Amino acid sequence: AAAPDLAGRHVVISAGGTREPLDPVRFLGNRSSGKQGYALARTAAARGARVTLVSANTALPDPAGVDVVRAGTAVELREAVLRAAADADAVVMAAAVADFRPAEYATGKIKKQEGRDPEPIALVRNPDILAEVAAGRARPGQVVVGFAAETDDVLANGRAKLKRKGCDLLVVNEVGERKTFGSEENEAVVLGADGTETPVPYGPKEALAEKVWDLVVARLE
Ligand code: C5P
Repeated sequence: AAAPDLAGRHVVISAGGTREPLDPVRFLGNRSSGKQGYALARTAAARGARVTLVSANTALPDPAGVDVVRAGTAVELREAVLRAAADADAVVMAAAVADFRPAEYATGKIKKQEGRDPEPIALVRNPDILAEVAAGRARPGQVVVGFAAETDDVLANGRAKLKRKGCDLLVVNEVGERKTFGSEENEAVVLGADGTETPVPYGPKEALAEKVWDLVVARLE
């Protein structure tokens, strides 16, 4: 059994990907499966934590002994994460949150107009939940972890993002159409605000999850 080094701790994890509706049948979404977030939830529970998993549009079974809260959109995810983060020792934002959402929601299905070009889709910015949690720190010493999927200049972009978001740790991985999304494996570098860089070799998402908790535990007072 895993060492219960998260016993007595409350951790909040977001997983999956938000869907931003255009009308009752369509949405803007992304390829996140939620597997990495669920692996984080299972491993944290095994290490003794009380776990709140805020799950966005996943098709995965609820992990045993984990409090699962569903959220569809970025705005819903923000509400659920902020509520759960109020008494959390650590917050890990593994969900792929849409940066933008459609400016308008059509209450009826949008129809194509014969012989006319489609209307452009106007977008507005979504709140940056990770930056907000990091800036707010509901508890002194709360450890805040972000994820960053990058397609190029992975480390340089990761360092800049860690600073911009104000989190303690940023898990950076390279993504592409055949990499990471939906797969059982992941490969990453965990960047620390203290300048540390922890490479995690290609392997199961569970192994990356365990490494993230090792780094979180080291930062809990
Ligand atoms: O800026 P980018 O989307 O690459 O940042 C990724 C990280 O920020 C992830 O941890 C994601 O969960 C979080 N995020 C967020 N709110 C957003 C966009 C991203 O919390 N609106």
